Amino acid sequence: PPGAERFIPAGAHSLDDLKRAAPGCRGCELYADATQVVFGRGDANAKIVMVGEQPGDIEDQKGFPFVGPAGHLLRRAVDAAGIDVPDIYLTNAVKHFRFVQRGSRRIHQTPEQPHITACRPWLVSEFALLRPRVVVVLGATAAKALLGPDFRVTRQRGQVLRWPDAAQHPDDFRRAPIEGGKEVPPAKLIATIHPSAVLRADDQDTAFNGLVDDLKVVAATAR
Ligand code: URA
Ligand code: SF4
Repeated sequence: PPGAERFIPAGAHSLDDLKRAAPGCRGCELYADATQVVFGRGDANAKIVMVGEQPGDIEDQKGFPFVGPAGHLLRRAVDAAGIDVPDIYLTNAVKHFRFVQRGSRRIHQTPEQPHITACRPWLVSEFALLRPRVVVVLGATAAKALLGPDFRVTRQRGQVLRWPDAAQHPDDFRRAPIEGGKEVPPAKLIATIHPSAVLRADDQDTAFNGLVDDLKVVAATAR
């Protein structure tokens, strides 16, 4: 895919500028079947940016990230970790829903590396405008976007990682295609499991508590 970069307005000065341009993105083929783009949401002064995988079925219909079952679980975990909701901006590594139609059902499909790479300029532009203290990497897809294909969430979760040495492509990872390619300021990165992995776990209580433990590290790091 050609990538999102050329759909991002060079003079974007705000998240609203980005959000207004996002529906026009044709950076990969995923726009074609999805209902709408699902851009990030939250306060422009948020200290913490949480990066999920892609919108789910409900997000695709409503147009906002994390408003389905995974979002509700994430909200409970955020509360349990003592993070204030106004401190968080929520977004996804890929901004259109990838699925296959089976009869009347739409079955989620994990985005592949070309989708992740194509969509990353949006994410980097969000970082450049938000300048967060901490970026929370939720699950393997966000880890592929930000930490490279060799990163293993299960092994390295809950650790405070430096920016941007751990990134796969330091150049395109740091350089937002806005405001003359201004560099994204360093933030700490912390990876953890995706909330939908908690929903799928055999032992949901243990998985939930593990997510909360990692988010407590986020809370302490953002302070
Ligand atoms: N899962 C995600 O990764 N992001 C959403 O917005 C919803 C579910
Ligand atoms: Fe553009 Fe990302 Fe949507 Fe692909 S998934 S069309 S790169 S916004």
